[in-house]
Amino acid sequence: MKRVAIIGSTGSIGKNTLEVIKELGDYEVYALISGNNIPLLLRQAQEFNPEYVGSVFSDNEKRLNELVKNRWKTLIGIEGCNELAISEEVDILVIASKGTLTFEPLIKALRCGKRVATANKETIVAYAPILKSILPAIQGELIPIDSEHSGIYQSLLGAERSNISKIILPASGGPFYKRESFEGISPEEALEHPNWKMGSKVTIDSATLMNKGFEVIEASVLFGLSSDEIEVVIHPQSIVHGMVLYKDGSVISQLSKPDMRIPIRFALTAPEHRGSAFDPLDISEVKTLTFYKVDENKFPLLSLAYYALKEGGTLPAVLAASDEVAVNAFLEGKIGFIRLMDIVIEVTQSHSPVKEPEIKDIIEAEEWAIFRSKELIG
Ligand SMILES: NC(=O)c1ccc[n+]([C@@H]2O[C@H](COP(=O)([O-])OP(=O)(O)OC[C@H]3O[C@@H](n4cnc5c(N)ncnc54)[C@H](OP(=O)(O)O)[C@@H]3O)[C@@H](O)[C@H]2O)c1
Repeated sequence: MKRVAIIGSTGSIGKNTLEVIKELGDYEVYALISGNNIPLLLRQAQEFNPEYVGSVFSDNEKRLNELVKNRWKTLIGIEGCNELAISEEVDILVIASKGTLTFEPLIKALRCGKRVATANKETIVAYAPILKSILPAIQGELIPIDSEHSGIYQSLLGAERSNISKIILPASGGPFYKRESFEGISPEEALEHPNWKMGSKVTIDSATLMNKGFEVIEASVLFGLSSDEIEVVIHPQSIVHGMVLYKDGSVISQLSKPDMRIPIRFALTAPEHRGSAFDPLDISEVKTLTFYKVDENKFPLLSLAYYALKEGGTLPAVLAASDEVAVNAFLEGKIGFIRLMDIVIEVTQSHSPVKEPEIKDIIEAEEWAIFRSKELIG
């Protein structure tokens, strides 16, 4: 039995992880950590009976302890997540939460030699320069859950770094890649992703292609690649999830139906492909696989992410924090879709990055970006 702790069990990735664990049979839930959705956390605890339940937010402590009534042990805040990260009882830490709170548990678990399966891209983006310097010497395994990075990870198994020419990240293009004008787009329209069912933040990021920009930065960190070695193509069918072009001209890729349970299961069982697909791909039913260049004028946030990656320092953190604020304002109906993109551009371009940041510089940059974005939203 492998024991799994899940930070963010109440979100879209967290719920899918629990489904996969149920199906695999020889994985056990050791801890479930939510954000604010304590009722769902408790329903999950009743079903999976973990040792610990908890919340990433310290102000849920009293409410959680009252509701748990000693049925499970509790853990609170990032300190609680840190305990799980270093606990000998935990074999795999799944980071399924959003936001950048989980940097410490991520690093602590890796330093203890654990497997960390992470879907969370905000932390990898914001802490990109620090992670790039730490990861090469770290002993744990960092396995991506994001489908594109899982596809690349699988396509790189056994590869020599010197033989890689570049990696190619497919983007579905979201609901608007064919739309001429972005005027008047409502949150409801932007939340209609053609292929994937995801949380609302990542769905809006897919519509602006900010998500793909974050994935470019994430890929650079995870696979140690420069911006020139990462290409993005529009692939509307979301069947090909990641491609590696080798110097000998071969392209190795991973294909599957767009179902997050597939990369989640691989992150738990890697390098094996274990378990049974919920709905396997019938390749003969895939009539067409198409790939297009991205129109960067239409999706400026993708170019902005390349700029943030090249400039480095605190810029990726500013990009991610500004986008978080702007997406929330868009979802709340305070700003339109075009204004969302303009705010992220304005905030990111006006930031003077700290070149070799420490953790405190990243936190300060995020705070500045949040403040400046809110100021622009008004
Ligand atoms: N969904 C996908 O298919 C998908 C695909 C690729 C990558 N990702 C990435 O995976 C991460 C999670 O995405 P999701 O779609 O599962 O999100 P989600 O459905 O919104 O769930 C987010 C989870 O994080 C918790 N949470 C909320 N605010 C938080 C904060 N400030 N700090 C820490 N945790 C917080 C939530 O708790 P409560 O609900 O209890 O408040 C919930 O458990 C994101 O980084 C996303 O970009 C998602």
